[in-house]
Amino acid sequence: MKIISIESSCDETSVAITEGRRVLSNIVATQIPEHKIYGGVVPEIASRRHAEAISAVCQEALCEAGVTLEDIDAVAVTFAPGLIGALLVGVNFAKGLALSLDVPLIPVHHLRSHIAANYVDNEELKPPFLCLTVSGGNSIITEVTDYTKFKTLGGTRDDAAGECFDKTARALGLDYPGGVYLDKVATEPDFKKYPLPLPHTDGEYDFSFSGLKTSVINLIHNSKQKGIEIDIPVLSATIRKRVCDILVDKTVKAAQNKGYKTVALAGGVSANSELRRRMSEECEKHGIKLYYPPLKYCGDNAAMVGVQAYYEYLSGNIGDVSLNAVATLPIDYNCQD
Ligand code: KG4
Repeated sequence: MKIISIESSCDETSVAITEGRRVLSNIVATQIPEHKIYGGVVPEIASRRHAEAISAVCQEALCEAGVTLEDIDAVAVTFAPGLIGALLVGVNFAKGLALSLDVPLIPVHHLRSHIAANYVDNEELKPPFLCLTVSGGNSIITEVTDYTKFKTLGGTRDDAAGECFDKTARALGLDYPGGVYLDKVATEPDFKKYPLPLPHTDGEYDFSFSGLKTSVINLIHNSKQKGIEIDIPVLSATIRKRVCDILVDKTVKAAQNKGYKTVALAGGVSANSELRRRMSEECEKHGIKLYYPPLKYCGDNAAMVGVQAYYEYLSGNIGDVSLNAVATLPIDYNCQD
């Protein structure tokens, strides 16, 4: 079954052709250079760029996979959560395509597709497993009880881990998107030099990153006012270690308490080198098998949408022409509603 999938939830326009877990093509047109000027994604610009790019990206995906629209058996699209104007471009394009080809339309939840990125190169990975999904807008720990059944154990009470990386990196004057560059410049952490707070949350598996973010920004401003030079590689490493400590600690605790022997990482922040290293170390210590997606599937892309769509299709989660974009929606929403 060949699926053409469309992703436009934020600042990447992506179209892929997949067959089950196999990726035949995955084209990603990024808007990063444009949003870089503003230090963050400008929703109106994102929507307009998606509208401009989507047809050409679609053509390229078909061409690279060596197929035509006649070979397509279903159309999949990210419909939630994300920037509403950006999502609408993909949703409307997908509806038109499905209607004209007379094939099923498969709505896909963005975070479900991030988790599905793990299936691409890991043939043996099957639910149930526990997943930490960390991106620019989300940080959640989820039980993946089946391919389309999820139970969220906890998540951020305020900012996502990616937001914390991006905003602290911006205050440090690093390039955009900050998380990527903070990870690149980080050397050894030093909590004596930079005593960053360890955030507290009441929920056992919940996170909080806004206090940490604010304390780093205040530290940078205070140092500037006093004319004290910031050691960027050391502060970057200290921020990175603090964020990873929290993510790793809660995820491993959740796996142990719930009896999971398989854990996966997902989302843009799962590309973080320290997060991968620490999770690998801790999982090995506790006899847990760890999976994470190849770097090219960590960020937003349509291949992961196509792979998740295959399982949504098998579960009967099919959309119709009334499909709409949704800005916020929990991963464990009821598809039949
Ligand atoms: O999943 P994604 O591409 O988009 C969302 O759905 O949010 O995630 C983007 C986030 C950004 O915050 C970016 O800075 C972060 O992932 N990111 C990283 C790294 N690579 C991307 N954060 C830390 N370390 C990285 N290596």
